[in-house]
Amino acid sequence: MKVLPTASSSGLPVPNYLRAHYWWAYVHPKAVRFFERQWLVNLILWGNYNRLRDAALSAFGPVARGKTLQVACAYGDLTPTLVSRMAPESTLDVVDILPVQLGNLATKLRPSERIKLHCMDSMALTFADRSFDQVLLFFLLHEQPAEVRHQTVHEAIRVLKPGGTLIVMDYSRPSRFNPFRFLWKPVLRVLEPFANDLFDKGIAHWIPVGADLSEASRQDFFGGVYQLLTFRRRV
Ligand SMILES: C[S@@+](CC[C@H](N)C(=O)[O-])C[C@H]1O[C@@H](n2cnc3c(N)ncnc32)[C@H](O)[C@@H]1O
Repeated sequence: MKVLPTASSSGLPVPNYLRAHYWWAYVHPKAVRFFERQWLVNLILWGNYNRLRDAALSAFGPVARGKTLQVACAYGDLTPTLVSRMAPESTLDVVDILPVQLGNLATKLRPSERIKLHCMDSMALTFADRSFDQVLLFFLLHEQPAEVRHQTVHEAIRVLKPGGTLIVMDYSRPSRFNPFRFLWKPVLRVLEPFANDLFDKGIAHWIPVGADLSEASRQDFFGGVYQLLTFRRRV
């Protein structure tokens, strides 16, 4: 596994939204030590972690083939599980803007020439156009302000090969019959200030107009609190 020098720990500035709203979760040196606990990430997802992880990874098929890009690290065993499902010869690139998160991920993975970690902004990926078979966005978009989210989605599509799959797992608007919704919105308003417009507009809204992409599948979980969308880039 390699952390490539596309940006070093002195490289990219921490975006304002991470510094202002998520310093406690990702930026603070003690955040990793506190949050990197499987039971805790499962609790944060109301006991749905394994189900959501496995659903997102199932969107790759029985095994992940070709070149996969994961945009942003995640606490828990998402990436180790993805690695365990990689076909021989396949590769995985993971980007994150915070070196501390990449360092943490590195401790969860066995060294491998097929896995590369990069310090990179999701808004400005340095990969070539049409270079990945799969791109995974796992609970990233709800944390980003609208203009950042637009650019992240744009970049994810740009690097996707024709025929490739964009996989998005994120929060969604709970269904009308889910009592959880009364609790959920106020909680998110405090902890996840950018999540509400993802609910209001839906993920498809963030796909750039004219993008060569069609929605391939949608699954809801936990009464609509979470959604998994897959999009295929047209050949
Ligand atoms: C994937 S999201 C949320 C993951 C989810 N809460 C979890 O841990 O399962 C969190 C990650 O996104 C990263 N991130 C946020 N904005 C980014 C950006 N513009 N470019 C790259 N990584 C970013 C953060 O540094 C953090 O490691």
